[in-house]
Amino acid sequence: MAVRRAKITIIGAGMTGATTAHWCAASELGEIVLYDVIEGLPQGKALDLSEATPIARTDQRITGTCDWEDTARSDVVIITAGSPRKPGMSRKDLLATNHRVVEEVARQAVLRSPDAIFVVLTNPVDVMAYVVLRVTGLPPERVVGQAGILDATRFRAFVAMELGVSVRDVHAIVLGGHGDGMLPMVRLAQVGGVPLTELLERSKIDALVERTRRGGGEIVELLKASSAFYAPGAALAEMVAAIVRDQHRVLPAPAYLRGEYGISGLYTGVPIVLGAGGVERILEILLTAEEQTLFLRSADEVRGEMAELPTTV
Ligand code: LAC
Repeated sequence: MAVRRAKITIIGAGMTGATTAHWCAASELGEIVLYDVIEGLPQGKALDLSEATPIARTDQRITGTCDWEDTARSDVVIITAGSPRKPGMSRKDLLATNHRVVEEVARQAVLRSPDAIFVVLTNPVDVMAYVVLRVTGLPPERVVGQAGILDATRFRAFVAMELGVSVRDVHAIVLGGHGDGMLPMVRLAQVGGVPLTELLERSKIDALVERTRRGGGEIVELLKASSAFYAPGAALAEMVAAIVRDQHRVLPAPAYLRGEYGISGLYTGVPIVLGAGGVERILEILLTAEEQTLFLRSADEVRGEMAELPTTV
């Protein structure tokens, strides 16, 4: 009996969407459909990626389209559509332009793929994930954001650079909203099983935390016309793998809270278990008083951004 491959739709064929397609293709995660409204853009990038598959030795279809019907019956829908930041902008500054785009694409996508898991990247991501939840009417376990894996991979990369050790041995999570108030969990960071706090002095760690918080902005300042896309794409591909391979991965990601951590009615970064059913569980870890304060402050930032959304869909 033939086993059907997972179908992965990536909405937005800009730098992030196309790079996500690249990472997903490299790991043979499934059939990829790249969607964009700009005629030629998704088709061209998908064809280019397809032409690389003989060298990559990956057998899979990658198609580009401007037709929503081609996205039908997807298992995973990734939303990257919208504008990226320009130098000097915060993620929040994107809210007004991006929420209409996200609302429209989510509405179109869920009509064709009512059983999909939706993964949202468009910024401000915590709010955009909520927009997708609201417009699709899907249960919260099937709408998840991507932020914490990206923020954590930055922190892990900086720690590895500082210590001169393999990135493989650096483990860390970042909780809270995907803004300047995000919370790299220093207390839980480990290098080969050794607490990070035993390997680096506090001032050095603080500098790495600060660089992580500004990690997205650092790339925007360098690129000017674009925000980051390699690491965001890799983070998305890791989430797609967890879903299509039903891996039950424990990863930090914006999830819809209903009382966890004392918060209800918004998305913010928490450790989740991610598998074929989407967000299978939210792990509630005990925070110190200081962490709890920072976490709630970060959630308040998200709440403030949500207040700027129109009340009707
Ligand atoms: C970043 C953007 C994508 O953190 O939010 O790079």
